[in-house]
Amino acid sequence: LVLVLDFGGQYKELIARAVRGVSVYSEIKPGHLSADEVRRLNPIGIILTGGPKSVYLADSPKCDPEIWELGIPILGICYGMQMMCQMLGGEVAPKDAGEYGRVTVTSAASLSKLFCSVKNSFTALMSHRDAVTRLPEGFRMTASTATCIAACENATRKLYGVQFHPETEHTEGGREIIKSFLYDICAAVGDYKLDDYIDTQVRRIRNQVGNNNVLLALSGGVDSSVCASLLSKAIPEQLICIFVDHGFMRLHEGDEIEGVFSKRKLRFIRINAHERFLAKLKGVTKPETKRKLIGEEFIRVFEEEAGKLGDIRFLAQGTIYPDIVESGGQHGATIKSHHNVGGLPENLAFSEVIEPLSGLFKDEVRILGRKLGLPAFLVNRQPFPGPGLAIRVMGEVTDEKLEVLRGADAILREELDGARRRPDQYFAVLTDTFSVGVKGDDRTYDPVIAIRAVSTSDFMTCEYTEIPHRILRRISSRITSEIPSVSRVVYDITSKPPATVEWE
Ligand code: XMP
Repeated sequence: LVLVLDFGGQYKELIARAVRGVSVYSEIKPGHLSADEVRRLNPIGIILTGGPKSVYLADSPKCDPEIWELGIPILGICYGMQMMCQMLGGEVAPKDAGEYGRVTVTSAASLSKLFCSVKNSFTALMSHRDAVTRLPEGFRMTASTATCIAACENATRKLYGVQFHPETEHTEGGREIIKSFLYDICAAVGDYKLDDYIDTQVRRIRNQVGNNNVLLALSGGVDSSVCASLLSKAIPEQLICIFVDHGFMRLHEGDEIEGVFSKRKLRFIRINAHERFLAKLKGVTKPETKRKLIGEEFIRVFEEEAGKLGDIRFLAQGTIYPDIVESGGQHGATIKSHHNVGGLPENLAFSEVIEPLSGLFKDEVRILGRKLGLPAFLVNRQPFPGPGLAIRVMGEVTDEKLEVLRGADAILREELDGARRRPDQYFAVLTDTFSVGVKGDDRTYDPVIAIRAVSTSDFMTCEYTEIPHRILRRISSRITSEIPSVSRVVYDITSKPPATVEWE
């Protein structure tokens, strides 16, 4: 185990993921974790993340000072390095100008074990204004940029710091630096493998549930699908999956999900509840009201169906590790709060919740899904909001509008699914704006379709993706010719913030 102690850095998950990427198990814990707790967890190494504060401010987060004395190798990144230096008697101060973006770092393999596998001069991602201005006693500089100490260490005490971010792909050789820390300094053996995860979870699930049945709300998303597959490997006869189909899925999606899961060893129940959902949304135009009504109706349908099955003690959820980290380490308590559809109320009569994916990052979940034999379209599925197309049809939702949107969205996906650099999320929106067009000899007055495509790592912020004009032109021409009731196609070039990913 390698502990990643979090001081508020935006890259904590990247760090933990980078460690696992080189076959070493990692977990993220709060920065103030006590030395006693660290001892109990017995990690082979500790990585301190970056953070937004200045270490010299009284209210900035600090680690337990005792951890420097544990003899466990520690790598401080950015804020982590500055905190290490400051707490051990060095000095950190703001610079006139910060370093942001790619910066050239000079080092030498002979200077540090950390840099034994990288070039003497490499570009690294920097993002800091404060810098270490005096090293603590016993430390020496092992890398530098034109203006700052880029790395330092006290090898005797196994304390290491880097000012740049080796965890991002923008740092040349970043992976090698992390690998050197883990293997050459922490003496990692590299025994973390996803195959073991499947075996361990299968054993654990069987032990936990005994002969009881387990219920899962299957949405067709990556997490719930992989969760269903893992459970069906462990307890095929005891797993019941309810797929509440609200009818706001994309073209053929409901049938595709049924196609996959009705063939698996589990009991698959699809509830076609489209008419119910549509009736609830009649006359409703406000996005938040739509979300709330869909969420409530989802729970009602699920409860009704679950009630028909008799007493079921276990509820399974596709909670993944980032969900746990974001909710402060709580399992089960906050049931995927963002997912207001597929999120279930706390008063459901299940006495136990099982979350077999709660140790995994998203890309690990996808790898696991592949290992469990799920088809690529499910495993690589882009995020799709619980309320589905109902929040991509602006204004009141009707079957006619859904059909137009489904068609346009399918064309967009056909054109982008195979793209070399696929955006992280891309979809069509049926706006409630009408515009004049001309088709043949007739003037038309039809709705406008908007295209949205974003690139992001966490969906908290996003850049709009620069789809090549050649592809945009093809999408526009296909949508307007294959779907007669669309007058024109526009391309959304707003990032988040200020816009959100979804239009509603
Ligand atoms: P926004 O629009 O908030 O979207 O920038 C960020 C991410 O969240 C998804 N999203 C939702 N997911 N229920 C969900 O399960 C929702 O109500 C919802 N609204 C947005 C969105 O698709 C994007 O991936």
